Amino acid sequence: MGWNSWNAYSCTVTEADVRAAADALVETGLRATGYEYVVVDDCWMAEETADDGRLRADPADFPSGIPALADYVHDCGLQFGLYSSAGSHTCQGYPASLGRERLHARQFADWGVDYLKYDNCGDHRGRDPVDRYAAMGEALAAVERDIVYSICEWGRNAPWEWGRNVGGHLWRTTDDVVAKWRTRDDEFGLGICDIIDRTSALDIGAAHGPHGWNDPDMLQVGNGPDSGQSRHEPTDVRRPLTDAETRSHFALWCLLGAPLMVGTDLEALGERDRELLTNEHLVAINQDPLGLQATPDRRDDAVSVWSKRLRDGGAAVGLFNRGEERATIHSHADSVAVSAHNSYRVLDCWSGDEWETDGAFHAEVEPRDTVVYRVTPK
Ligand code: GLA
Repeated sequence: MGWNSWNAYSCTVTEADVRAAADALVETGLRATGYEYVVVDDCWMAEETADDGRLRADPADFPSGIPALADYVHDCGLQFGLYSSAGSHTCQGYPASLGRERLHARQFADWGVDYLKYDNCGDHRGRDPVDRYAAMGEALAAVERDIVYSICEWGRNAPWEWGRNVGGHLWRTTDDVVAKWRTRDDEFGLGICDIIDRTSALDIGAAHGPHGWNDPDMLQVGNGPDSGQSRHEPTDVRRPLTDAETRSHFALWCLLGAPLMVGTDLEALGERDRELLTNEHLVAINQDPLGLQATPDRRDDAVSVWSKRLRDGGAAVGLFNRGEERATIHSHADSVAVSAHNSYRVLDCWSGDEWETDGAFHAEVEPRDTVVYRVTPK
């Protein structure tokens, strides 16, 4: 859990934005909820490396340098993350780490980096992805600092099959998420519903668990099509995702056990978005110690029931309506991942209402919305 600069600021990110995000994580209560890592994505580097190949921060946008920024983030009680790529250059054309893994891993450790997002752009010099990602995994393992290794290979070469073996702690499973429900084939990126459908089709839940997580990309809660341009307007006013779509986005990411990386301008976080991101029931489902990924009971239908087992013997259940009509979605304790019992407590994770059932439960679900229940044996 944490915050990443990309979805809000793309290539305009500055040191001031990152400090402001760290402050806002504390002030909004997100840090107290568990959002912990502050990650600077692409474009923090200068256009040229130092003569010895070390990376340098952009002197205009990061005038205090990375170690001072890492100190600031640490002083806020947070962890600090940085970005590079397993190629000659980053996706925005800045110098990256292929062939300089040991040098850069040492540099990251010396700078106080706790998390590395490692992208797939630039010239690969003919090397295959497993080899390129293993080189950085070995370099990070060789430094005397624990650094979370976030593989961003976009799911092109099934990283869920080899991510753990190369030292990865999480790996992206798809192309980039954009702040839309769906994208057309000729548009950049994937919408929220596209990623949910793709995750369902990939059937990769078995690869997911403690110390190695499938990553369906960062949160777009609070973002508009012009994110990074219109600042200081409450996020829930300008977002293009409706309330229902935003709820489904957060609900499914929690059910999937996704790394919850907030990607919005936190200084402008609207109250509804703040409430969503700090919903204790949803975050508890996301962070459940069993670390399972929810699976759907059916694919391609307008409605589906996603469920995952929880450590207390109960289950988290998402009643997801991806269709355009209101739907009544029925399910039963027998068909979700809950231990068999005579009666169950059902908690509606949005409203906080609770009731008892001998097994059956249902919900009226608005188009593109998701109702989440926590079903616990009594
Ligand atoms: C790729 C990644 C994104 C982001 C950008 C930065 O597209 O998938 O998450 O890091 O690069 O350029």
